[in-house]
Amino acid sequence: MQSTVIAPSILSANFARLGEEVDNVLKAGADWVHFDVMDNHYVPNLTIGPMVCEALRKHGITAPIDVHLMVEPVDRIVPDFAKAGATLISFHPEASAHVHRTIQLIRSHGCQAGLVLNPATPVDVLEWVLDELDMVLLMSVNPGFGGQSFIPSALEKLRRVRQMIDASGKPIRLEIDGGVKADNIAEIAAAGADTFVAGSAIFNAPDYADVISRMKDAVSK
Ligand code: DX5
Ligand code: ZN
Repeated sequence: MQSTVIAPSILSANFARLGEEVDNVLKAGADWVHFDVMDNHYVPNLTIGPMVCEALRKHGITAPIDVHLMVEPVDRIVPDFAKAGATLISFHPEASAHVHRTIQLIRSHGCQAGLVLNPATPVDVLEWVLDELDMVLLMSVNPGFGGQSFIPSALEKLRRVRQMIDASGKPIRLEIDGGVKADNIAEIAAAGADTFVAGSAIFNAPDYADVISRMKDAVSK
């Protein structure tokens, strides 16, 4: 199991003050920045691209930037995000014609690679590529919007993927994204997640440090 990572999703941040919001959440104890990229095609919403990632780097953000691509096609945007300072790049297998090739492409640009499974995507898709991955990201909501409720079947899926990762013997992270809150994070951690995305639970809270420390305490108990 990898060390615990809390990755606030900036989807729920105040975009008019994004640099300051990211500074504040990192000061409050966040480990990574989760950067949701939506294209109004693969998902029914439109967000931010490589220019915003680059702007955060120029602003002085040095923490890992965890880019979650909800775009189709994937490949042509990968080099731009690598250049813009992404640390990890994760994508949905449904949005790539050649999943193995996209993983190699991400790594060839010096980034870590993650594969994202939607709530209805079977875990079998991992079978022949798991060893190539730095992270598996399980969606516990349907991608496209923040503020949705955690889908309970994600717990069983976490347990299955945790077994696969442990059997591989590789240091692959298991990230969960969607509906993560201070009051359900303990059971999500117990099911096998080590990396936790939380958008609305952090950015809608009055005190970022308080909610992040409650999340970390709940995971370590
Ligand atoms: C959904 C995004 C999530 C989302 C999480 O498509 O991938 O990262 O922002 O938001 P919450 O934590 O509010 O469910
Ligand atoms: Zn996300």
